[in-house]
This record gives sequence, structure tokens and C-alpha cells, in this order.
Amino acid sequence: MVSRVIPVEEFDLVIFGGTGDLARRKILPGLFRRFLSGQMPEGSRIIGAARGEMDSEGYREMIREAIAEFGGDEAKDKDGLAKFIDQLHYVTVDAKGDGGWKELHDLIRFDVINAFYFSVAPSLFGDLAQRLHSNKIADRKSRVVVEKPFGRDLETAKALNATLAKHFKEDQIYRIDHYLGKETVQNLMAVRFGNMLFEPLWNNHYVDHIQITVAETVGVGGRGAYYDNAGAMRDMVQNHLMQLLCLIAMEPPAVFDADAVRDEKLKVIRALQPIDPHHIVRGQYEAAKKSPSYREDAENPKSFTESFIALRCEIANWRWAGVPFYLRTGKKLRARTSEIAVVFKDIGHSIFPGDEKRHRNILAIQLQPNEGMQLQVTIKEPGPGGMRLIDVPLDMTFADALGPDAEDSTDAYERLIMDVIRGNQTLFMRGDEVEAAWAWTDPLIEGWQERNDVPKLYEQGSAGPEDAMMMLHREDRKWREIKE
Ligand SMILES: NC(=O)c1ccc[n+]([C@@H]2O[C@H](COP(=O)([O-])OP(=O)(O)OC[C@H]3O[C@@H](n4cnc5c(N)ncnc54)[C@H](OP(=O)(O)O)[C@@H]3O)[C@@H](O)[C@H]2O)c1
Repeated sequence: MVSRVIPVEEFDLVIFGGTGDLARRKILPGLFRRFLSGQMPEGSRIIGAARGEMDSEGYREMIREAIAEFGGDEAKDKDGLAKFIDQLHYVTVDAKGDGGWKELHDLIRFDVINAFYFSVAPSLFGDLAQRLHSNKIADRKSRVVVEKPFGRDLETAKALNATLAKHFKEDQIYRIDHYLGKETVQNLMAVRFGNMLFEPLWNNHYVDHIQITVAETVGVGGRGAYYDNAGAMRDMVQNHLMQLLCLIAMEPPAVFDADAVRDEKLKVIRALQPIDPHHIVRGQYEAAKKSPSYREDAENPKSFTESFIALRCEIANWRWAGVPFYLRTGKKLRARTSEIAVVFKDIGHSIFPGDEKRHRNILAIQLQPNEGMQLQVTIKEPGPGGMRLIDVPLDMTFADALGPDAEDSTDAYERLIMDVIRGNQTLFMRGDEVEAAWAWTDPLIEGWQERNDVPKLYEQGSAGPEDAMMMLHREDRKWREIKE
């Protein structure tokens, strides 16, 4: 099996914040990999833009170093790197000032695809959008890419949407959630909607519950000030976990196109029920021997912000009524892993003496660190000794069946940027989706603020606070182990 790379059309991509952390660590190394794979046409250009004074040569040097540091093995391809670096340019621009905009206008080509990546603080989106227009740099064909956080509540998200809408139509706006760019997320849709096998079982008759876990081993580190103002709910649940929830729970769209998929996702968010307070567990990591506590990391000794959250939610529709969806995410946990697990119901009656219906099928979809899927099935333990049943994982990672080329190393960011150039919005969040997600999370956050809820402490390297375990134990269920 040979992987097929279809080159995109020639483009000019302007990265506002082109000298920032995200641009150096993710966006440019990702574009370099797309260039090496042949997907980015040689005539295309990437224009870094920020306030820092430097010329294009200085920018090329900066990015050469960034790719050496973050570009992985591909960075060793010196010829490839030299050709890629040649396609970089830099303009000194202040989002809030007039300097640099004419230079940017003169540099941009209007006969190729134009995209503008706003890799800057959201408070600058409005200034950038307005100046792109007043300087006649962006037009109806241009695309803008915006990063999370998209607001910190419904009100701010609405304001951001309104700001962008003044200058761009919804079909020009690409709100990135890099979780949606992961190979396995797309594979999830292929498995659900490309097979006869799963969809008939994908409902409250056969599914006992669904777990979504996004666990990190890192703490809040250098992002303490930002994080303490957000917490796990705003930083992870409102976007990444809810997007995964939508994809696992949505109805089959009539066609695989951006609006059909996003319409179905939106219906899931709107069908989410308010959550009972005892179905929310918030936690904060405590100090370990050589590692500071959350409050020390956040430099806020009185912080009530959660570095961990576990929730039990329900979707009120015919397909999912009564099926709990358990979501959890946290920092400084036992392992770095993101997983969705669909846990099917027990069999109705066991014909095997002594077996007592203890076996369950589980479809586990791993998003990181190793993307793949496993279906846990029950079989007879091989060998003599009677009819003893065991659960074994059926690996559906496909690498064995399809050969090494099937192991796609494309990073989520680079896949999504290529989608921007192709004009495909399927894996980007629509404005109404983001607003609906905030409309669901806002009352939950307000609720615990009104109750003066204090997060439970948990040990670093654990699976979170004991209360999160209890939440499932009370219902005779168990979280999946957090492991790589
Ligand atoms: N880093 C990540 O992993 C990550 C992940 C998800 C989302 N994000 C989001 O992505 C955005 C960028 O994050 P970052 O980590 O790259 O931030 P950063 O390292 O602080 O970089 C900010 C960039 O914006 C430029 N900038 C600041 N003020 C400007 C102005 N007035 N006009 C023009 N350029 C200006 C800065 O350069 P000058 O100071 O020279 O102007 C710099 O290039 C943020 O919205 C962040 O929340 C980041």
C-alpha cells in the first residue's frame, strides 16, 4: 500500500505571531514535513509576521533553528530544509499599529490562495481582521485560521465571533481544535460510518457507557498564569473532550461534508443535559517530593482552579438516553494518554458454567501517544482445562494489514493547515458549535463558583482524586486504567 500525497494548490500563508512558540514548535515544523512529502508546492510561500524587527534572512535563521529543535528526524534532510527555508519571508507588523501593512500588501500574491493564521492572543483578532481589510490584503476568497482559546465563556466567544464576522464570512473562518486533526479521529468516523458492524450496536440498547480520558503527565509549568484563569474545564473539556464526545455520539451525517458533519455535532451539544453537582469532581495536584503543587506552579496559594476534572453527562436523545458519558482530564497524572472507550453491555445470559457474564466488549480508541484502535473480545482460553473464557484485544491499528506506509506520521497541525488550503472545513469548529459548547459549560462553572467548591487534592502520578473513582464505583463501573 503506497501512501498518496495529493499536492495542494499554490498558496501564500501569513502567520501572524510567526515568531511565537506555537509557530516555531508546531506550525513551521509541520509545514516543513508537508513540504518534504511533496504536498506543499514549491512556489508557495510562508510569511511570518510579528512586531519583532528582523528581515527575511533573520527569520529564515530563526526557523532553521526551530526545525532543528522540533522537526524530528526530517530536520536532517539538509537539501530539503534549504529549499523550504527559501520559501519563507518576514514582515514586521504590529496588529495594533500602521507599520508594515503596506509591505505585507505588496508581498502577498492575489492570484494564489491566501490564508492568514492568527497565532496570537485572541485580543488581537479584531485588530488583525480589521487591518487586513482596511489595507485590502484580505478579500472574500481569503481564509483565516484562529487558535484556541476561543473565548472564556459564552459572552466572550460571541464577541469574538462577532468581531470576526465583521470582516469574514463563516466559510472563511477556520477555528482550530488540533484534536480533530488526529488520524484516529478521522478513523473513528470511517469505522462508525464505513462498516455495517458497529453502527447497529451504537446506541443505548447495546452500549453500557462511554469513557473519554485525556491524561497528561506535565503540570501547568510556564503557563500557570493563563491556566489558573481557565482550569481543566475551559482548557480541555469545552473544546477537545466535547469535540470527541460529539464525534462518538453524533448521528450519521447524510454526506461527509463540513456542514453536514457540523450540524450533527451541534445537535449532540444541544442535547447534553445539565449536570448534577455530585457528578462533577474537580481536583488539584498536591506537592510531590521534588515537584511543586498546583498552587505553587500557578503561583496562587489560594487558587480554587481545577487541574483535574471528571464529569458524568448524558445526552437526551433516542440513541443515547440513559447511557452515561464519563469525561476526565487532568495534569500530572500517571501517564500521557488520550482514549475513548465504548464499553458494551454484558451479554444477556451466559451458557458457560462459572462464567457469570463477567465479559464485556470494549472498543478502545487511542488518540495518543500511539494512535490506534482495539476491540476487546471474549474467547476461550487456549489449551485443555475446560471452557475458560478470557478477554483479548483485537488490534485494529491496521499497520500490520496495510504495511508500514499505513503508519501516517502526519501531525494534526499539518493536516489541518493543508485542509485550510484545500478549503475543507469539516475538521474545524463552526461558530455556533463553539457557542453551544460554552452555553453548556458556563452554568457548570458558575455552579461550582457559587457553591465555593474546593478542588480535591490528588497525588502526582495518580489517576486523580479518589472521588473520581467513587463516582463510577457508586454505579458499579470502573474507569479504564491510565496507561501509555
Ligand atoms: N503554544 C502553544 O502550544 C499553543 C497551543 C494552543 C493554542 N495556542 C494559542 O496560539 C496563540 C499563540 O500562542 P504562542 O504560544 O505562540 O504565543 P507566544 O509565544 O507568546 O507568541 C505570540 C506571537 O505574537 C506576536 N505578537 C504579539 N503581539 C503582537 C502584535 N501586537 N502584533 C503582531 N504580532 C504580535 C509575538 O511576536 P512580537 O512580540 O515580536 O510581536 C509572537 O510572535 C495564542 O492564542 C495561544 O493561546 C498556543
